[in-house]
Amino acid sequence: MALRLHARRNLPLRDEPLELVELPSKPLAPNEIRVRVHAIGVNPVDWKMRRGGPLRFAYRFVGPRGPLVVGVDFAGEVTELGSEVTTLEKGTRVVGGTNFSRKQHGSYADEVIVRPDQCAILPDGVTYERAACLPVPGVTAWTALTKLSRVSSTPGAKVLVLGASGGVGLATLRLAKMFGAQAFGVCSARNIAVVEAHGATAIDYGKGDSLEASALRPTTNTKASRGSPSRSWWR
Ligand SMILES: NC(=O)c1ccc[n+]([C@@H]2O[C@H](COP(=O)([O-])OP(=O)(O)OC[C@H]3O[C@@H](n4cnc5c(N)ncnc54)[C@H](OP(=O)(O)O)[C@@H]3O)[C@@H](O)[C@H]2O)c1
Repeated sequence: MALRLHARRNLPLRDEPLELVELPSKPLAPNEIRVRVHAIGVNPVDWKMRRGGPLRFAYRFVGPRGPLVVGVDFAGEVTELGSEVTTLEKGTRVVGGTNFSRKQHGSYADEVIVRPDQCAILPDGVTYERAACLPVPGVTAWTALTKLSRVSSTPGAKVLVLGASGGVGLATLRLAKMFGAQAFGVCSARNIAVVEAHGATAIDYGKGDSLEASALRPTTNTKASRGSPSRSWWR
C-alpha cells in the first residue's frame, strides 16, 4: 500500500516548500509497529531540520534513505505488529515520536513505523490532537529537570522557567510541580492566568527584571535566555 506523505526531496534547496509525495509502504522489522497517524505535533525541530544545520547534517549520515519526511510527534492507532512485539495490540491508541537515527521517516505522514519503546499508551478520554502536542516538548522539559538540573532529585528546589506559557514551559511547570519543586514562570501579562493554573508563581516579563522579581539567584553560571526554558534553572 502506498503512503501519502508530506516530504522533501533528498537534497533540497534551503526553505523549499513541503510537497505531497507517495512512498511505498515498508514491511515491518520484528521489533517494529505500524501506527496510523491521526494527529501530529509541529515543533521548532521540524523547521530546523528543514533549514539545515547540525541536525540535518546528522540526518544525512544516520537517517533513512529517500525523501526527508519531516515531523517527530504523532498520535494514532496501532495497525500492525512486528513478530517480536508483545507489549501492544492492534487498535491500541498511542502517542510517540519518530527517530531518524533508527532509520525512521518523520511523522508528517499517514502512517509511521516505530518501535514500542517510542510510544506511550494513550488513556481513554485524551484526544489524539491533545496528545500529539506532548512528546518533544515533554521530553525537553523532562530532560531539563532530571538530567541537566537534577531538580527532580533535589528536595525543595526552586525553578525559574523562562517562556513558561509556551509548549516546553507549560510541560516544565507541570513536571516541576510533580517533583515537588517551587516553580516561577516568566510570561506575558496575557498569560499570567495560564501559568498560575499550572501551579506556578507567574512573573510578567513586561515589568522589568524577571530574576529580580523572582527573588532568586542562580546557583550556577547558567544564563537565562529568552525562549529557552530548558537552559534556565535556579535552586
Ligand atoms: N517545542 C519544542 O518541542 C522544543 C524542544 C526543544 C527546544 N525548544 C526551544 O525552547 C524554546 C521555547 O519553545 P516553545 O515551543 O515552548 O515556544 P513557544 O510555545 O512559542 O513559547 C514561547 C515562550 O516565550 C515567551 N516569550 C515571548 N517573548 C518573550 C519575551 N520578550 N521575553 C520573555 N519571554 C518571551 C512566550 O511568552 P508569551 O506567549 O506569554 O509572550 C512563551 O512562553 C525555543 O527556544 C525552542 O527552540 C522547543
